[in-house]
Amino acid sequence: MKELVYLNGWIGSFAEAHISVNDRGYIFGDGIYEVIRAYNGKMFALQDHLERLKSSAAAVEIDLPEVEKDIGAICEELLTESGIKEAMVYIQLSRGTAPRNHTFDAGIKPNLLVTVRHVPEIPPSMYSEGIKVITHPDLRWQMCNVKSISLQANILAKHKAQKSGAVEAVFVMDDGTVTEAASSNVFIIKQGILKTYPNGNKILPGITRKYVIQIAESMGVEVREEPFSATELTAAEEVFCTNTIHEVAPVTRVDDIEIGDGKPGPLTRSLLAGYQALRPD
Ligand code: PDD
Repeated sequence: MKELVYLNGWIGSFAEAHISVNDRGYIFGDGIYEVIRAYNGKMFALQDHLERLKSSAAAVEIDLPEVEKDIGAICEELLTESGIKEAMVYIQLSRGTAPRNHTFDAGIKPNLLVTVRHVPEIPPSMYSEGIKVITHPDLRWQMCNVKSISLQANILAKHKAQKSGAVEAVFVMDDGTVTEAASSNVFIIKQGILKTYPNGNKILPGITRKYVIQIAESMGVEVREEPFSATELTAAEEVFCTNTIHEVAPVTRVDDIEIGDGKPGPLTRSLLAGYQALRPD
């Protein structure tokens, strides 16, 4: 098994891969990305990720590159060649390479990077005990639906979370509304009703979020895609965060407030089980 890099048609190791310092992803953070989970050598929800990549590209006017195969096939082949079964497949598309200048030419050729790595180890306590999160002002831009590689606000929030012994930072807007977290979507459960912020420009339309909503509805749970406040967050019976890597992570502490009885809640655990049942075998 070996971790591999695809870069504009070249395939090799992380140590050998190189890109120009004039890459606009490097200079400006001018690019978009996707993170896909492979289980047992098979990618989960590949089409959803490719569609989201396409809509991020359109939103920031990056042309999808002309590649020898489609991007999905490149991911499949790199995954197979790596031999890694439990993998994190990363796709990055930067606007391209040009001497530093804010403006760009219409014909600029995007740089396509795909990497396959082992999935990061997740401590079992994430699911048995739940995680702590902090609340943090949402200091991001107004196009959070785009999966942009410009992640400084997210990085600083997550760094603050880590320094506080927390795993995630939950973003709160000036009016007290919770949007999402630094690298996941946020859900609350109150009186059996599941709530999460609606899709739009304030959050990333998470793919795990989409599947969790479908699972909840199929279980007969009422789902409301509507805003909720930080006060509702801390008063919720259950709270959880979703993303491709952590799937459904129970939240048992927000800042210094315990959620529910301080243990992962029953509906959160059912949704995690329902999501894990979708894993390809
Ligand atoms: N992040 N919101 C934000 C801001 C995210 O960065 C992510 C994922 C999500 C969840 O999306 P999905 O369910 O499609 O993974 C929500 C990835 C994992 C990352 O940046 O590494």
